[in-house]
Amino acid sequence: MVGFPMTTTLPYPQHLLTLSDWPRAPTEEVLALAAEIKRRPEAFADVMTRRTLLMVFEKPSLRTRLSFETGMTRLGGHAIYYDTRTSPLGSGKESISDTVKVASRYVDLIMARLYEHADLEEMAAFADVPVINALTNFSHPCQILADLLTIQEKKGRLDGLKLAFVGDGLNNITHSLLTGCSRLGLSMAVGCPDGEGFRPDPSVVAEARGEAEGLGQSVVVTADPAEAVADADIVYVDSWMSYHIPAEEREARVAALRPYQVDAALMARARSDAIFMNCLPAMRGFEQTAEVIDGPQSVVFDQAENRMHVQNAIMVKLLEWRRA
Ligand code: CP
Ligand code: NVA
Repeated sequence: MVGFPMTTTLPYPQHLLTLSDWPRAPTEEVLALAAEIKRRPEAFADVMTRRTLLMVFEKPSLRTRLSFETGMTRLGGHAIYYDTRTSPLGSGKESISDTVKVASRYVDLIMARLYEHADLEEMAAFADVPVINALTNFSHPCQILADLLTIQEKKGRLDGLKLAFVGDGLNNITHSLLTGCSRLGLSMAVGCPDGEGFRPDPSVVAEARGEAEGLGQSVVVTADPAEAVADADIVYVDSWMSYHIPAEEREARVAALRPYQVDAALMARARSDAIFMNCLPAMRGFEQTAEVIDGPQSVVFDQAENRMHVQNAIMVKLLEWRRA
């Protein structure tokens, strides 16, 4: 194992379930290590030799599967793709606790993309190895750590920037952005329709607001997309039809979310040097126009690449902290 400076104060995070569980210091350590792995990949080519990652999927994926799997290859380790549809777990023949207790006898790390966040918490409670959230209906911390790395690269800093999220506020990406941005000193505005079906979880907003205000920043939730985007350094959108949303809700959701589409006119309300982000997958003509996502302000493919670098750093750090 390459020796890394360990600057985090105890207790070290043992899993990555939400960013809420991660204090500022380990979060910054992971971002710094991700940048280092990206800069000097050859120095990390053997850090996962004879290590195995189990990747549990209940939902579809392009980026998460490919970035974790190729990430482990680049670090000298191995990854197993495990689709719950072909597992005893998925067919109700085996419990979560037995599944992860067995897996812990074989593998060094588990990542899971699940519907219910409570199921992920149950995995972590019974696993003897670190568990990483690869997206639940509630949160998507790996994506937001990759996004923070991308913002740091593009803007040269995080502190004091304003990120505007526009669209479906009751959303895993929105929740993790609120938590991650507020922890690292960014202000955030969410522009989303009024009503319980689209506004972010009030407890996530309250925690983020407390954290942001403690750092001299703010958290605003508004039904006015123009207000949300005003003077933003970053404009961020996500799918209007997240993986867990039933297809029969499409028509009503598109009608409700249409005013929140980021087009060139809305983008022009942000700062002139603003960047445009989307965690992907994207639908041109829905959450943003093609002109915006394919235009010069878009950094969406840098975000996708950074998933791999940041996840590699997360895996290295979780194993390091396990031994600390
Ligand atoms: N952004 C993201 O998690 O993409 P996938 O659903 O393709 O993994
Ligand atoms: N909110 C989206 C994120 C996809 C990466 C979903 O849950 O499908």
